[in-house]
Amino acid sequence: MDASDETRLSVVIVNVHPGREDEFLQLAVRLKETLERQPYCVQAQTIRDEGVPTCFYLVWHWVNADAARRSHADREVGELSNELNRVGLVTHAINGARARNAGETEPRGIVRMWERRDGVDRRVKDIGPAGAERRVLTERRFGPRRRWERASDIVGAARRAREHADAQFSHFKVGAAIETSDGTIVTGCNVENATYGLTICAERVAMFKALSEGHRAFKRIAIVADTAAPTPPCGACRQILWEFGGNLEVRLANLTAEKGTHQLKDLLPFPFDARLLGEA
Ligand code: THU
Repeated sequence: MDASDETRLSVVIVNVHPGREDEFLQLAVRLKETLERQPYCVQAQTIRDEGVPTCFYLVWHWVNADAARRSHADREVGELSNELNRVGLVTHAINGARARNAGETEPRGIVRMWERRDGVDRRVKDIGPAGAERRVLTERRFGPRRRWERASDIVGAARRAREHADAQFSHFKVGAAIETSDGTIVTGCNVENATYGLTICAERVAMFKALSEGHRAFKRIAIVADTAAPTPPCGACRQILWEFGGNLEVRLANLTAEKGTHQLKDLLPFPFDARLLGEA
């Protein structure tokens, strides 16, 4: 790309809910027509994933980095985006419309969505049930290759991670596994130390590991403890999961059974996050 080229790209992954493909395809046409009428949008494409027929990539070419703000201000685009959230699980993989902060070294043209508060913020929306089909072991994915596990085995992954817990003070071992938007599973366990206070929970270990490996979009987390009652994430973990993962599906389980599935927005109602910092 020419260094003077101001164009930007956004890629939105839509995992269409079962039975809603026709609605999605009609919506995609309306979205394309609406966007391509706007002066800030060069082209809007809808591409079906070769390996996962219910997965689509919406690729939007913007005239420049200011285009996102202009598209967000557009009521018609906003309404279509809301409809999109109803027919599928929507993940913003690349937000090329975000302006770069000073000092960022990302290449021009494509800017990854480093901070979820930028661009289209899925935390403020109900992204709907995560019931759509998921990528599995052999399918293509974005980003660097990682250790693989089948998405359906997220609870098993959390159980295995729990075995590594270092809980010599509380003897309360916890395992967690986070599934990223591309189906990668990243695990964590709680790690305690002699000062007690520096203990870190399994959920935050998993999230920080995932972030440190470059993942920025997440679908769900599984949390496992050896208790009859479900072990939900602590307050600190809810905050971190919310800020980096948005309205995740939270699956709770013990060593032998699943103990319930929740949406993070229900576990952390009325959250504080970076959107509010702008008002200070
Ligand atoms: N713990 C977690 O790792 N996750 C939770 O959801 C609850 C608590 C850990 C922290 C500490 O090592 C031990 O469990 C007892 O609180």
